[in-house]
Amino acid sequence: MISKYSIKEILNKGILFENKKLIVEGWVKSFRHSMFIMINDGSTVENLQIVLYKNFIKKITIGSSIKVIGIIKKSYGSKQSIELKSHEIKFYNLVDNNIIQKSILQPKTHSLEKTREQAHIRFQTSIFSCVMRIRHFISYFIHKYFCKKNFFYLHTPIITYSNCEGTGEMFEIVTKKKNNINENFFKKKSYLSVSGQLEAESAIMGLGKVYTFGPVFRAENSNTKRHLSEFWMLEPEIAFSNLDDNINLAEDFLKLTIKYIIDNCIEDLSFLDKNIKKWNKKKEITVLKTLEIILKFSFHRITYTEVINILKKIEKTKNINFVYPIYWGMDLQSEHEQYLVNEYFNGIPVIVFNYPSSIKAFYMRMNDDNKTVSAMDILFPKIGEIIGGSQREERYEMLLKRIKELKINIDTLWWYLDLRKFGSIPHSGFGLGFDRLVQFITGMNNIRDVIPFPRTPGYTIL
Ligand code: 4AD
Ligand code: MG
Repeated sequence: MISKYSIKEILNKGILFENKKLIVEGWVKSFRHSMFIMINDGSTVENLQIVLYKNFIKKITIGSSIKVIGIIKKSYGSKQSIELKSHEIKFYNLVDNNIIQKSILQPKTHSLEKTREQAHIRFQTSIFSCVMRIRHFISYFIHKYFCKKNFFYLHTPIITYSNCEGTGEMFEIVTKKKNNINENFFKKKSYLSVSGQLEAESAIMGLGKVYTFGPVFRAENSNTKRHLSEFWMLEPEIAFSNLDDNINLAEDFLKLTIKYIIDNCIEDLSFLDKNIKKWNKKKEITVLKTLEIILKFSFHRITYTEVINILKKIEKTKNINFVYPIYWGMDLQSEHEQYLVNEYFNGIPVIVFNYPSSIKAFYMRMNDDNKTVSAMDILFPKIGEIIGGSQREERYEMLLKRIKELKINIDTLWWYLDLRKFGSIPHSGFGLGFDRLVQFITGMNNIRDVIPFPRTPGYTIL
């Protein structure tokens, strides 16, 4: 029996596989001199060179799917150490040349916008498969990291009645039978969840430390390079912890994730590194250098009040005019966050904490000044806010007061308040925009290029 190997396995074994007979399957990436074809099977960004046993070149087209049986030989070419000398080739599907020429698989540089329009075949492009492999390894590391720290993975519901972030930008769930729309399937209005946090808070009361990791939905009309209507969020929630513990966990997690990806995905990262300038049409520092900065320095930690003072001073001394005026109590806009991280702190992440309660969610713990809450945002270069978190309000009366002040419907939150009666504890947690982290690590300019099938306002859905 001849065994089948992935290209990654074959290339990893390299010369150790010399003279081994094996099967490999993949798609044709290129061919030359009527003799050589390069194939890829998605296991790695690298291709395997196949030496043809007869001239198939007239027949072979880029993108065609094939099975090859052959023997591994040392290669005399300068680009690879081994190649597969074919004995038998089976074509699963030969792609019509006219079709290829109109597609993003035609070997030339395509704009990422065009690649997005063909979302169903962009997995076959080198760049997108690199991003997807890295996305996989970040997901994998999330479980590895939190399991090692004794957190339990919690599956929170996608259908909810409560609005965790209190912003009203939710997708409502209705059922449809012929032309009859029914909003009352669950006997009350229900929505797609914006966050699993509230349920996670319930879970830690028995499990101590949990994390959720799944899709969340926001109906905000934000057409930016950092917003999706459906995105993935990681949300750890920790019993008996305060804002400092929360911040320390977040910084440690981000650094170790980046280190893990550098250690385990270096081929994909290097490929992106080499090509990113071309794709992003900008002269930026390389992907790897940006990642190294994250590992090298401690994140800056400053209060919201300090940020406002810095921005006010900058406006005066450097004559910079922000579009949104600076005053205490304002929500920081992207222009302010970008300036702070990219210019003021030279690309080192910044953790801003103790925000005014008026601009933050109802569940955040009120500080003794009665003006600010124990909230934190982590701002990354280019991306802006990558993490938002807080210590939670564990005092029943305080929480009730906030819910009433904000006129939030208590009928949807009675159970959340109830948790404050059953052994309430100091606790905290955060939410990481997973797609934004993938975007940062891969260096991609647009969040739509790091998720398999992006959903954004007004965007054609594939
Ligand atoms: O700051 P947010 O809204 O926080 C929460 O939802 C809390 N319940 C989290 C918690 O404490 N457990 O969202 C968290 C992160 C943001 O920092 C951002 O990175 C990302 O989610 N995010 C988005 N990513 C892509 N597209 C969007 N529309 C996003 N909105 C938020
Ligand atoms: Mg936020």
